[in-house]
Amino acid sequence: MADMRVSLITGGGAGIGAAVAATLAARGDVVVCADRDLAGAQRVAAEIGGTALEMDVTAPGAGDAAVRAVVAQHGRLDVVVTCAGIEKTGPAETLPADLVRTVLDVNVVGSFDVAAAACRQFAEQGDGGRIVLIGSVNSMIALPGQAAYAASKGSVLMLGKALAVDWAKYGVTVNVVAPGVTDTAMSAGSLGDPEKRATMMARIPMGRPAQPSDIADAVAFLSSEHAGYITGAYLPVDGGWLALG
Ligand SMILES: NC(=O)c1ccc[n+]([C@@H]2O[C@H](COP(=O)([O-])OP(=O)(O)OC[C@H]3O[C@@H](n4cnc5c(N)ncnc54)[C@H](O)[C@@H]3O)[C@@H](O)[C@H]2O)c1
Repeated sequence: MADMRVSLITGGGAGIGAAVAATLAARGDVVVCADRDLAGAQRVAAEIGGTALEMDVTAPGAGDAAVRAVVAQHGRLDVVVTCAGIEKTGPAETLPADLVRTVLDVNVVGSFDVAAAACRQFAEQGDGGRIVLIGSVNSMIALPGQAAYAASKGSVLMLGKALAVDWAKYGVTVNVVAPGVTDTAMSAGSLGDPEKRATMMARIPMGRPAQPSDIADAVAFLSSEHAGYITGAYLPVDGGWLALG
């Protein structure tokens, strides 16, 4: 890895991606925030001294285009973190198949596409790279109404392992960070509802949701030189939720 890391964060315009961007910028990385919400990405980039890129991770060729743009601007790429994600819920018996496809497209194929583009760039550079995929506690457990989301996050878990196996030969590590319920727009509906919030907090030994910075700290470790022999791992950052079962 280079002395000055160049890091690309998808979904870097809000929530966990914005916190990852801020944490990696604070440690000295050159950070590119990529998001389909360009204004959000620009806002975060301005706050942290990074740059912004408009990117819909589901667009054909999006991964290669984003990596090309980063390399054109900054000369190389060292770290990719795939925070772009969506959650759609509803009773499985009436969940439209198209909606399931959309969730899988963003969360799984979108993560794969940019990871693969990054790996090709890492292989060309010849000095390895770090990829961190954002899974979820729902990579392991399902909650009611989560057929699409849990299927997508279970796939992200196995995607991380498969990529780790394939790309170790390039010196590329691939790991999955798995947030529990985290205080962002995505979970505002459930955390804002007192009854749902109480049910969730009862399942979390630490008794609080994660802050986006809690997730970012785990990503920072796995994308650093201190995690050189860790690949194919799944790291829950969940206040003990999965431990309670
Ligand atoms: N918030 C939680 O409780 C929680 C828990 C577990 C896992 N996660 C995961 O963490 C990741 C980030 O979630 P968050 O809570 O920050 O959500 P968020 O909604 O706050 O932010 C998601 C960001 O991704 C962007 N995005 C969505 N679809 C995109 C696309 N097609 N192309 C490019 N950008 C796109 C959005 O514009 C937004 O900026 C997601 O993968 C989510 O599933 C979140």
